Amino acid sequence: MPSATVPTPEFIAGLPKCELHLHLEGTLEPDLKLALAKRNGIELDQKTVAEVRATYEFDDLASFLAVYYPAMEVLRTEQDFYDLAMAYLRRAAADGVRHVEMFFDPQAHTTRGVPFADVVQGYHRATVDARDELGISSALILCFLRDHTAESAAETLESAAPFKDLIVGVGLDSDERDNPPLKFADTFARARELGLKLTMHCDIDQVGSIEHIRQVIEEIGVDRIDHGTNIVEDPRLVEIVRERGLGLTSCPVSNSFVTDDMKADEIVALLRAGVKIMINSDDPAYFGAYVAGNYVALAEKAGLSVADVVQLARNSFEASWLSDEDKAGYLAEIDAYVAANV
Ligand code: ADE
Ligand code: ZN
Repeated sequence: MPSATVPTPEFIAGLPKCELHLHLEGTLEPDLKLALAKRNGIELDQKTVAEVRATYEFDDLASFLAVYYPAMEVLRTEQDFYDLAMAYLRRAAADGVRHVEMFFDPQAHTTRGVPFADVVQGYHRATVDARDELGISSALILCFLRDHTAESAAETLESAAPFKDLIVGVGLDSDERDNPPLKFADTFARARELGLKLTMHCDIDQVGSIEHIRQVIEEIGVDRIDHGTNIVEDPRLVEIVRERGLGLTSCPVSNSFVTDDMKADEIVALLRAGVKIMINSDDPAYFGAYVAGNYVALAEKAGLSVADVVQLARNSFEASWLSDEDKAGYLAEIDAYVAANV
């Protein structure tokens, strides 16, 4: 049992949580990468888990992405996408995750000749089986690659339209430099017309971070912001997200890889300001920590109390795109857990 103030790793692992910033392609563990390469007859330069892991080496967003996209070549069939998502969902369930809204990058696959339908149907089949077998609920967010053209994003959205019931929203990821949110304003407006929720990455310490955060709030009208912690530099924008209850999906361990700082002070400042900020793993196979590991790392670094981590978990459900009824059910699970364990 944790003391009144210090959350133990066991307390954090058991705490019901929601994950809102998770790239399915970022859950490709070295052992699965080797197994998929073998199944698909792909000759990799690396033969062991240690050799694959040694290639997972980077120190900023661009160098991370340069490793990340080529690694996806092993994903070829509907079954591959299913297996990747099921492996993640098993780990997430064991980490106390009750609901997850997961990004996927179709252009990283369709540009290699993989049909869009195979990607989305493989991932969707995993969400169905995970609910039945693991009791974890999950939804898919289609991310556009912002370093591709606006036309490519528009075409990707049209190919997704027949499958729109399989996805809950759209997002924007990949390299932010010279690729501002407004480049995709038309596609996001069309996604809104299709009834989809909107979110966009505003990565950490980018050129133009604050202007990009302003654009997603004031021009695109997103329903959530991915990362976005640079907002602390602009009290006016902080007040808007606080007032609107817009979620900020922060990823402390990822931050410490793509910058040299977990951004713990910024995350805590936003939490204290009443912003709906919560903790996520981003690309856990690459950054070495799933969601509970991210809570533990931040709690240690920032000296968080039990009440702080419980607030972060509450924020995770409140910022989700679940129905109000489902949110209330999960928040009641948190209350029961706290009553039994604190
Ligand atoms: N793709 C996967 N992870 C990402 C991140 N943190 N930022 C931008 N694109 C990504
Ligand atoms: Zn991300």
